[in-house]
Amino acid sequence: MNGAHVSGPVLAVDQGTSGTKALVVCPERGVIGTGSAPVTPRYGPGGRVEADPRELLASVTDAGRAALADAGEAVVAIGLANQGETVLAWDPATGEPLTDAIVWQDRRAAPLCDALAPHGDELTRITGLPLDPYFAAPKMAWIRRELTREGVVTTSDSWLVHRLTGAFVTDAATAGRTQLLDLDRAVWSPRALDLYGLGGERLPEVVDCDSPVGVTTAFGPATAVTGLLVDQQAALLAQSVTEPGTAKCTYGTGAFLLAQTGPRPLRATTGLVSCVAWRLGGATSYCLDGQVYTAASAVRWLTGLGVISGAQDIDRVGLSVPDSGTVAFVPALAGLAAPWWRGDLRGSVTGLGLDTGPGHLVRALCEGIAAQVVELAAAAAHDLGTPLSALRVDGGLTRSALLMQTQADLLQLPVEVSALPDATALGVAAVARLGTDPALGARDAVPAWLPSAVYEPRIGADEAAARMGRFRAEVDALLARAPSGP
Ligand code: G3P
Repeated sequence: MNGAHVSGPVLAVDQGTSGTKALVVCPERGVIGTGSAPVTPRYGPGGRVEADPRELLASVTDAGRAALADAGEAVVAIGLANQGETVLAWDPATGEPLTDAIVWQDRRAAPLCDALAPHGDELTRITGLPLDPYFAAPKMAWIRRELTREGVVTTSDSWLVHRLTGAFVTDAATAGRTQLLDLDRAVWSPRALDLYGLGGERLPEVVDCDSPVGVTTAFGPATAVTGLLVDQQAALLAQSVTEPGTAKCTYGTGAFLLAQTGPRPLRATTGLVSCVAWRLGGATSYCLDGQVYTAASAVRWLTGLGVISGAQDIDRVGLSVPDSGTVAFVPALAGLAAPWWRGDLRGSVTGLGLDTGPGHLVRALCEGIAAQVVELAAAAAHDLGTPLSALRVDGGLTRSALLMQTQADLLQLPVEVSALPDATALGVAAVARLGTDPALGARDAVPAWLPSAVYEPRIGADEAAARMGRFRAEVDALLARAPSGP
């Protein structure tokens, strides 16, 4: 298969935290089929977040088959995007899972990170990632200590690909989410593995994102899997974020801001992550990455309280009042990631009064999510040494005009909304297509950026600064109440 050139539609499957989306993408006609299947993470005490691996696999095949049925056409290749830092143990002989999947949001490995703190700077130097249980390695080490049966411990992509094709691989960008990859050379780091006590692990081969890894019959006739990419980087590729000064943010379960930095890693100085964007045809590109742990999951939390009936209700309820009144919401429901790295913190809602209504809470949540994204954008601009000129956005929550306008207002930049909310699937469709034709370059496989809407700031810089000052004061208050972070 390697080196072969075949042309035609590809099936792209985005296996996410709360569901799996699949697209059939045709080079000439764009998206010709869609499918989806839900995934239900389970939340437990101590910040535990787990998923049933069999449900993840079933969601991949269900969503993929639905997209193919919708398209009514065969595909020439398949691409798979994954959640990144979600891990499990499994039996390589049978492919059976030995544990639940521990989801990226899970905090159970925090004590393990605390114990590794004296080596935190070294691990960051090697891998570009700060020491935090968000990443895969702490959770892999936690499983390894608990596991009584023989098996491998990997990120979820390796297991899914093994079940689909029999291969034992991970792509360079997903490997870069573990804190086990040498950032400069994009190979497993023996030193990082030793520090985590994972030196004896059988690890998947790190492959290019556009590498044909095997053939699957899980979706119908035997078809090659030619594209693997971690989800946020896939969205980055789909949004053609290749020029300095542009960044993307995907508003999914969490919100993730990434900016491409070119063929050499740019070491973050402001608490962002430096990591692999993708490796295509042997050439590695790097990016800066910042995370808001709870975006749609905070919306779901508000929904669970009965404040809104779901994400589709944000604008109706939020726009019923002119502003958030006296309410401020730091939606750190699973802690704060970059640039604070305080996963131990919990959220706060302050300024409640007898006149506070659902609309104020919804607006305060939108401001809390948007303000965190502003902090990430500021950190990225600082590290890039150039101000951002715009923010490209995708993900389900971009359907909320209120959230997007709030984002543009606080950021004081245009917010350009992807025409298709599922940019991640489009990105992995692009790498799958590259895997079918070595002559193609990344730019050939990605459609030109054409936003479906652009939100311009409607408030002045002073007002934006005042609102950001209020958000920062709320975060400072949280930090002051819990000063002894990791
Ligand atoms: O790092 C975790 C993130 O990539 C998960 O994305 O779309 O499942 O919220 P999503």
